[in-house]
Amino acid sequence: MPESSASSEAVYNELAMYYEQLDRVNRDGAAEAAAIESVVLDRTDESTISLLDVGCGVATHLQHLEHTHECVGLDVNKGVAEVAADRTDDATIVRGDMHALPFENAFDCVTLLFHTLAYARSVGAMHDVLTECYRSLEPGGVLLLELMPFVPETMPETNGVDRTVNSYTDTEVAITSVQTSRLEERTLVLEGDYLVARPGDERPTHHADTHRLTLFTVEEVLDALQMCGFDNVEYDPSRLQTGLFIANKPI
Ligand SMILES: C[S@@+](CC[C@H](N)C(=O)[O-])C[C@H]1O[C@@H](n2cnc3c(N)ncnc32)[C@H](O)[C@@H]1O
Repeated sequence: MPESSASSEAVYNELAMYYEQLDRVNRDGAAEAAAIESVVLDRTDESTISLLDVGCGVATHLQHLEHTHECVGLDVNKGVAEVAADRTDDATIVRGDMHALPFENAFDCVTLLFHTLAYARSVGAMHDVLTECYRSLEPGGVLLLELMPFVPETMPETNGVDRTVNSYTDTEVAITSVQTSRLEERTLVLEGDYLVARPGDERPTHHADTHRLTLFTVEEVLDALQMCGFDNVEYDPSRLQTGLFIANKPI
């Protein structure tokens, strides 16, 4: 794929091997994978499924699903795709863009986990990605979207900048990051600076990146799913970290 299609976020490229250490939210990939598996198996007749994880990152979930199910991970960024390939044995990892998925009627399940859909830049682009997912699914297949919903009334009136600091150390690396977040209309802008020191480094290396996450309301996502042709559409705010949208491609 053309290099220019990928984004340049440090955490998805030169720092991809530390993606989980840099993640500020404590996550249990094995428990999340088990929860995903149970939702999908509830909606299909199969015990072994084919699954496409779009925006698979460093295979946080696929590494727990690949031995039971036939798994493909797709990610636009080279760094995370390489780490995902290193971490998995049976899963196939490909580089690709969620706005142009190279599949048709191919999977029992398509997942976009931990806000991957928020990298779509507009409601129209979000709709386009869901259309790609619909085409990639077999009839009867299940789509799972984990997404932080936009709730305009609870967002701060000032759109003020928030700040967090995070540090991680083990025998291989020491990392400190400072991140700011601010809301620009419906876009959450995360700016991060990272200092990283590995054994033998004379001084830490500095990395910086910016993430622009588009926030969508629950109604916008439910409407888009229905317009794409999905049925049995539901949103369960209690599942995974920030709620799960679940939908079927009709048989
Ligand atoms: C917040 S991370 C989530 C990663 C993984 N799903 C997880 O649960 O840890 C978002 C992922 O989406 C990927 N991504 C961003 N834009 C993308 C695009 N246009 N197509 C495919 N993947 C994309 C990033 O490289 C990153 O791995």
